[in-house]
Amino acid sequence: MNGKKLFLAPMAGAADGAMRQMCREHGADGCVTEMVSAAAVWYKDKKTFALAGLGAGEEDCAVQIFGHEPHMIANAVKVLYEKASVKPRAFDINMGCPVKKVVSNGDGSALMRDPALAGAIVEAAVKVSPVPVTVKMRTGWDKDHKNCAELCRTVQECGASAVCVHGRTREDMYLPGTVDIESIAKAKAAVGIPVIANGDITDGKTALRMLEMTGADALMIGRAALGDPFVFEKIRAELEGLPYKEPTVKERLDAAREHLLLLIQLKGERTGVCEGRKHMAWYTKGMAGSASLRKKLNSAVSAAEMINILDEIEKDTQI
Ligand SMILES: Cc1cc2nc3c(=O)[nH]c(=O)nc-3n(C[C@H](O)[C@H](O)[C@H](O)COP(=O)(O)O)c2cc1C
Repeated sequence: MNGKKLFLAPMAGAADGAMRQMCREHGADGCVTEMVSAAAVWYKDKKTFALAGLGAGEEDCAVQIFGHEPHMIANAVKVLYEKASVKPRAFDINMGCPVKKVVSNGDGSALMRDPALAGAIVEAAVKVSPVPVTVKMRTGWDKDHKNCAELCRTVQECGASAVCVHGRTREDMYLPGTVDIESIAKAKAAVGIPVIANGDITDGKTALRMLEMTGADALMIGRAALGDPFVFEKIRAELEGLPYKEPTVKERLDAAREHLLLLIQLKGERTGVCEGRKHMAWYTKGMAGSASLRKKLNSAVSAAEMINILDEIEKDTQI
């Protein structure tokens, strides 16, 4: 299984420029932005442009768009491409988001229930996009409507260059133990374009199982990378049968400090520290003897305070 690409999954509220850089440094072969709303681009929302913006060295990144109106999606593709100082490698259309607010608007995984509209959206995007258009979907709406193989075929016919299938239905949300690898395999068998498999990949064993059972062309890793950008190196080494040494506590805390500084660089100290809290909690999860210190990370208001707490945790775990 050498050479299969490992991508970082799009994760709203987490996989921003800072997290993407951390994962890239530790072996991610490509990334996807947090999902951005086609309607918000239509109404020229400044925050949305910031969310879709790529930094230096992010040429490996796709910009993900959600929406349900072909003309708005096409507009978002055009505008975001024109505005981008670093051009994305692709535009990815979100057909997997299960969140009620999104789905009730006809966006995200609601599109799996309307394959004709899903196809029209891809066609409209492909028509105006200077770069490939891809689609990320789930296996279907619920266990009685698993139509990812058919939808993969539809979007392929409409010009999509690749698809990513998360092996859960909308109904499954993120429930543990619900990933249906067989449906991903059926999707892979149904199309000629590359299929990226996603869902509960956390190490070499789960990665290998996914690759062997689906024949997928690449893998996408989401939650396992939260607070653990090293997961890409680990999976790569394990897939290639190379020895892998887990990072030490110090190496993990160094990565946490680097991630925090990147967040601050990107968003300023106030927002960087605020958004950094959840990341720091992920990085320090399970570290021995530091429960009370880790709690303190949640109320830290400055970078210096946060770095101090990380230093304390480091001392604490060395005792
Ligand atoms: C916090 C969070 C935010 C997410 N945001 C997005 C998103 O913006 N677009 C998307 O297509 N999927 C999104 N997802 C789904 C992930 O990309 C991925 O499909 C899912 O987490 C399953 O992969 P995993 O088991 O490796 O985490 C999100 C998931 C999480 C946990």
